[in-house]
Amino acid sequence: MDVQSIGVIGTGVIGSSWAAFYASRGFKVKMYDVDPSFCQKGHRRAMDHIGALRLGGLLSEKAAKKAISDMTTVNDFDEAVKDIQLVQESVAESYEIKQQVFKIMDAETPPDVILASSSSGLLMTEIQKVTRHPERCLIAHPFNPPHLIPLVELVPGERTEDHTICEMKRFFEGLGKVPVVLKKEAPGHIANRLAAALWREATDIVLKGIASVEDVDKALFAGPGIRWAFMGQHLIYHLGGGEGGMEHFIDHIGPAFEDWWKSMATWTSLPPEAKNILVEGVEEELRGKSLTEVTQWRDEKLIRLWKVIYG
Ligand SMILES: NC(=O)c1ccc[n+]([C@@H]2O[C@H](COP(=O)([O-])OP(=O)(O)OC[C@H]3O[C@@H](n4cnc5c(N)ncnc54)[C@H](O)[C@@H]3O)[C@@H](O)[C@H]2O)c1
Repeated sequence: MDVQSIGVIGTGVIGSSWAAFYASRGFKVKMYDVDPSFCQKGHRRAMDHIGALRLGGLLSEKAAKKAISDMTTVNDFDEAVKDIQLVQESVAESYEIKQQVFKIMDAETPPDVILASSSSGLLMTEIQKVTRHPERCLIAHPFNPPHLIPLVELVPGERTEDHTICEMKRFFEGLGKVPVVLKKEAPGHIANRLAAALWREATDIVLKGIASVEDVDKALFAGPGIRWAFMGQHLIYHLGGGEGGMEHFIDHIGPAFEDWWKSMATWTSLPPEAKNILVEGVEEELRGKSLTEVTQWRDEKLIRLWKVIYG
């Protein structure tokens, strides 16, 4: 797979961050959005991301200048997918919209161009139904923001060829990403399924009056979150079992987990009162800081963390 140029379709939160990531790795990037004003906004956001990578020491002055000149915006869908070898689709999370977009991308590109969707949890089997070349379609799901978070989940649809997944795995590994390959698709892939399970319980703890939004967040970032930056839950519990490892952990602590599971939330729709409570709780946690300030603070921390773990 010889990629020189990449089309980024949809330039919102994720598309603009993907654009910055790909440009920072030396690719030419064409950015397209159905709304030209969103495209310009996405382009400015992508330039800010490059600036942050430069300030954080992850890009040299020269590489940052090149990355900025390598990101262009186009007003025409056909132009966005012309002379490219990979498309990173990042439009709204809807089968209807993604199918429209995949149908055009499939018609307008030669069959060896790989069509990757950023979808957070849709099934590629459904999306690729509208294409003539489903074998080159896959989900390449990033974590926000993709220019700083290494994970990419690669998910095949029923008609995706193994070759497509293998090529993309190699491609992302070569760019310093951490790709994981799902053996079969599932709504929400891996990480969002785990996040959804965690968020349900985090919300339920607040709704049951056990702790505040802020304290639930602290209990995550100051505790397990520190380890999660470089270890997964299975390995963490293996160490939790001491010399007996996972086997001892299951025998020793397993029964306690069974008690906790019995008392946990099982709802599948967010309780109506949750929205206001969570909105107010997060406002309290932010103590008047703007979204821009918090995003900047997050990205500075992520850059420092990235250097410690991956640098
Ligand atoms: N936001 C996240 O945290 C996150 C994380 C990982 C993956 N994703 C996934 O990335 C995708 C984009 O999410 P987002 O948060 O960037 O959304 P967003 O709303 O910020 O951006 C979506 C963009 O797509 C554009 N768009 C809509 N229809 C289009 C079309 N037909 N052609 C071209 N552009 C079109 C919109 O104008 C908008 O600018 C979704 O599939 C989402 O599930 C989101």
